[in-house]
Amino acid sequence: MIKLKTTEEIDRMRRAGRLAARLLQHVSEHVTEGTSTEEIDRICDRFTESHGAQSAPYGYRGFPKHVCTSVNDVVCHGIPSEKDVLSRGDIVNVDVTVRLDGYHGDTSRTFMIGEVDRDAELLVRRTEKAMYRGIDAVRPGKYLYEVGKAVERYLSKFGYGIVRAFSGHGIGRSFHEEPMVFHHYSRANKIRLRPGMTFTVEPMINMGGSHEVTVSSEDGWTVRTKDGSLSAQFEHTVLVTEEGVEILTSLEREQ
Ligand code: MF3
Ligand code: CO
Ligand code: CO
Repeated sequence: MIKLKTTEEIDRMRRAGRLAARLLQHVSEHVTEGTSTEEIDRICDRFTESHGAQSAPYGYRGFPKHVCTSVNDVVCHGIPSEKDVLSRGDIVNVDVTVRLDGYHGDTSRTFMIGEVDRDAELLVRRTEKAMYRGIDAVRPGKYLYEVGKAVERYLSKFGYGIVRAFSGHGIGRSFHEEPMVFHHYSRANKIRLRPGMTFTVEPMINMGGSHEVTVSSEDGWTVRTKDGSLSAQFEHTVLVTEEGVEILTSLEREQ
């Protein structure tokens, strides 16, 4: 069942989304060469706590930290660690999710540490653009699969792999709720978009051309590309409105 949010819930979603956006902005200053992902975790914890919110990843299905930090070939769900120190040429996705007043805001970006390879930079830029293509396809009355179609269409000429094993998701009172949001065309997403729906668009894109991923058997979380190639991701939480779409995790539309 897909929950349509009431006006009051939308208000809370806007506030949670804005806080998540501010958190990501705040941590971005610290995502630099020499910083460990553990430090990024602490920064997220402190900021979230001091704004009267909770880090949704913490304890979610046993996840041990407050944020996901996914470096280079890590696709998603990277666990912050003192051992992972960022160095020049790395790309790292920082994925934050806050719960404020019972509602969630979920957003991520892939940062480039210093100068990175031209190919890596292109992957990162195109992944962000792919996310916006997906978001732009959101309109009431359209089918949800237009999101995946738009992402796929834009990326088709680059030969990248679009991850299928993980998707975007409905979001609200729950961190993850229906529907799943695929970043490739899928009939499973033949779902009519209606005002009041809230979900994430968060394509994970592999440079190597294969969509295949593996989950670490050591920690049960870390997802890597099967071919060892780099992977990038961007994520926003969005709301379907009467007119189109509103990005809830953007700082640009301060109300
Ligand atoms: N933030 C991730 C998402 O976009 C989910 C992370 S689940 C966690 O859906 F447990 F790893 F935190
Ligand atoms: Co998400
Ligand atoms: Co996320």
